[in-house]
Amino acid sequence: MRKIAIFASGNGSNFEVLADACREGRIPARVCALVCDRPGAYVLSRAAKFEGVEIIQLSPRDFASRADYESAVLERLRPLGIDLICLAGYMRIIGGTLLKAYPERIVNIHPSLLPSFKGAHAIRDAFDFGVKVYGVTIHYVDESLDGGRIIAQGAVPYEGTDIDALERLIHREEHRLYPATVARLLS
Ligand code: GRF
Repeated sequence: MRKIAIFASGNGSNFEVLADACREGRIPARVCALVCDRPGAYVLSRAAKFEGVEIIQLSPRDFASRADYESAVLERLRPLGIDLICLAGYMRIIGGTLLKAYPERIVNIHPSLLPSFKGAHAIRDAFDFGVKVYGVTIHYVDESLDGGRIIAQGAVPYEGTDIDALERLIHREEHRLYPATVARLLS
């Protein structure tokens, strides 16, 4: 059975859909670890409901550099024999230490049709721009911000004026596309 680690910083709805899909056999893998950089993040309570998920909660501010923080994460991940890392709302750039340890094996989900609207406020930025077709991108991770090679995209047409409704539609597409893409990558 393949092994997945999920990195998340906040709410964790994508963590939960991936973990559910593994538990139900829709992804041929097991979620073995959650790496969380924020104490108290809601994703930590979601992860506690799943058996066999090791919770790795480390705060980057306790380390002198990104490389030191990532080495500490790596020390915890190595013994688990992780095949794929899925970033799911992980609000940090991945550095050389983790990229070298997991080449072409780190993927991210971003709530826009990349390369448009990179960054932390993609939905709001696209909405302010007056976009008519929004979307979601799954891509490989490199050292750039939301810049790695694209694996899959899903379009979300929306012409309304309610940003909360738009966010719900985008998250619904994320929750469909991420498990389906991870299942395809691992099979
Ligand atoms: C998602 O919109 C994802 O695309 C972005 O961060 C958000 C995380 O949501 N990278 P959640 O924490 O999985 O609910």
